[in-house]
Amino acid sequence: MSLIPKETVDQILAQADITEVVGDFVSLKKKGQNMWACCPFHHEKSPSFSVSPAKGIYKCFGCGKAGNSVQFIMDVEGTSFPEALKYLAKKYGIDVPEDNPTPEYAKEQSERDSLFIVSDFANKHFQERLHKHEQGSIGQSYLKQRGLSGNTIRKFELGYSLDEWTDLTDSALKAGYQQKYLESTGLTIAREDGKKFDRFRGRVMFPIHNVSGRVIGFGARTLKSNDKKSPKYLNSPESDIYHKSNVLYGLFQAKQALRMQDMCYMVEGYLDVLSLHQGGIENVVASSGTSLTEGQIKLISRYTQNITVLYDGDAAGIKASLRGIDLILENGLNVDVVTFPEGEDPDSYIQKVGDTAFKAYLKEHAQDFISFKTSLYATEAKGNPVRKAEAIREIVTSIAKIPDSIKRTVFFRSCSLIFDIDEQVLISEYNKMQLQDRLQPKTGSPEMDSMPFPEEVEPEKPASDTDVLVRYEREIVRMLLNYPDKMLDEGMTTCQYMLEQLEDVEFRTPLYSRFMVLIKEKLCESVVPTAEDFINYPDQEIRTEATNLLSDPHELSHNWETHSIFVPTELDLLPYGAERAVLRLKWRNVELLMKNEMEKLRLVTDPQEQDRQLQTIFMLKQLHSQLGDMLGIVVNR
Ligand code: CTP
Ligand code: MN
Repeated sequence: MSLIPKETVDQILAQADITEVVGDFVSLKKKGQNMWACCPFHHEKSPSFSVSPAKGIYKCFGCGKAGNSVQFIMDVEGTSFPEALKYLAKKYGIDVPEDNPTPEYAKEQSERDSLFIVSDFANKHFQERLHKHEQGSIGQSYLKQRGLSGNTIRKFELGYSLDEWTDLTDSALKAGYQQKYLESTGLTIAREDGKKFDRFRGRVMFPIHNVSGRVIGFGARTLKSNDKKSPKYLNSPESDIYHKSNVLYGLFQAKQALRMQDMCYMVEGYLDVLSLHQGGIENVVASSGTSLTEGQIKLISRYTQNITVLYDGDAAGIKASLRGIDLILENGLNVDVVTFPEGEDPDSYIQKVGDTAFKAYLKEHAQDFISFKTSLYATEAKGNPVRKAEAIREIVTSIAKIPDSIKRTVFFRSCSLIFDIDEQVLISEYNKMQLQDRLQPKTGSPEMDSMPFPEEVEPEKPASDTDVLVRYEREIVRMLLNYPDKMLDEGMTTCQYMLEQLEDVEFRTPLYSRFMVLIKEKLCESVVPTAEDFINYPDQEIRTEATNLLSDPHELSHNWETHSIFVPTELDLLPYGAERAVLRLKWRNVELLMKNEMEKLRLVTDPQEQDRQLQTIFMLKQLHSQLGDMLGIVVNR
């Protein structure tokens, strides 16, 4: 568990406003008592993701994700519980005592946390070197010469690594950081003979942040423009906190703008991001020279469904990256493309023509990807029928990736115009491809995929005894969490009433049994259990279920309200509802006991024992029909 003190945790929980926390990632719209958005965890067209400001929780009715603000950060950032708390602490300016790590403390931290901490140290170190060290002026003048302002340099936390063998390693060890973490982040390289040296030397440092702003790795550019021996850019190796395929450079700084502009410019290099940002185009991220991955696309799609890829001027590079774009289409995002004149990249071009002209250029030259790809191949295939057939297949492959059938139709049409061929030819090519796709066994489940037609849907199984029991137990816990201290008719609270009634009933679902134990414990201490107790409970399973139980849609249709017809709410009917929930569970439990005893009876051979067993069953039967009567259930006697 976290080493963050309890008071700090409570303070964070109290201050973290769910709408603010979630609002950093999706744009919420108020409807009724709740706020709604398209779910950041799965693709959808209409919002089924809801936030309840009153309860401090979110819940997606589409994919089922639910929780409080800490859980949201864990889900959206893929972080641990303590990391999510720290994120929120940072957002709300709450001091987390562990932010000043002593060497002993660093040792106790989990591996990942240690890697974050050492990366953070290195980041501060490189910045200190750039701004304060005499050698830093080399870095500074390079960045000036590349046209970067002090503001941009600070915003992106750029730094400089001294042109020495062990400047960072020595400083880190001296400050108490462990060598193994310096090595696993790749900041220090240890040779077989035990000699250690810094990976990054004499380079401008670009820290790479995760979505929540923590440094996870570095890109580093040499200042020598024509040194053939060392590569222009050196990057951190993969580590437990740095997975290249799930990272986009600049995303942390671009987040807000991506949502506001509802569009993401995709560039290749660090400098492209910085220059565009500085020119007022803040919705820009870089893949950092690698081809785009599904993870990166998913990251972007949390903020916007529209990507515009900015290409350097060379055709070979463009061709190579076309596959990555099919991946974007496959994920249902819209892709536009802008190319630059031969020899220019976005950075050099904006520096050359200025912000205003650059923005105008983007507007003028944005082209949807399919038409772009079509034109690219069409020029190539001119007068060569074989090439033309290949090209058509190539383009239809891309169109086939688009999940939306209306969009597909539009693209078939525009493609047929550019190629000057019948639309029907393209569509039949597409159909052929689809058929082949279905007939071809995919990896995974060969039996199923070899069938070209959809498999039959299994008939729904009748609810088993345990299914029903789970439902009834869940209902009890749901009422307890939602209305713990509401007075029922008998002058008792829901908690008191239910726990008294169910004293002898043992819950069979482990999860709900745990809830019952926790509620009992609270009552024994004469405290009324509150929803927050469970939403913030240390155990994930309890938290998630509590959230689900608290966000079940028992809200009434607005129709009724607007017609001002009185409709009783669950709260109005609580005494009745609570009693029935208790009765139902008891009834079901007795039924199961009965079945159990009957089973036993079959194995008993001793006549006396048989008699006793029959007595028990008879008693249970009576009880069962009594309960049934109370519930208004007709039971076969
Ligand atoms: N890159 C890399 N390693 C290299 C070369 C490039 O990781 N040896 C990545 C960097 O993220 C770089 C991007 O690919 O920003 C694009 O590379 P390139 O076009 O060669 O460089 P520029 O971004 O134009 O770099 P600069 O403007 O600084 O020359
Ligand atoms: Mn460049």
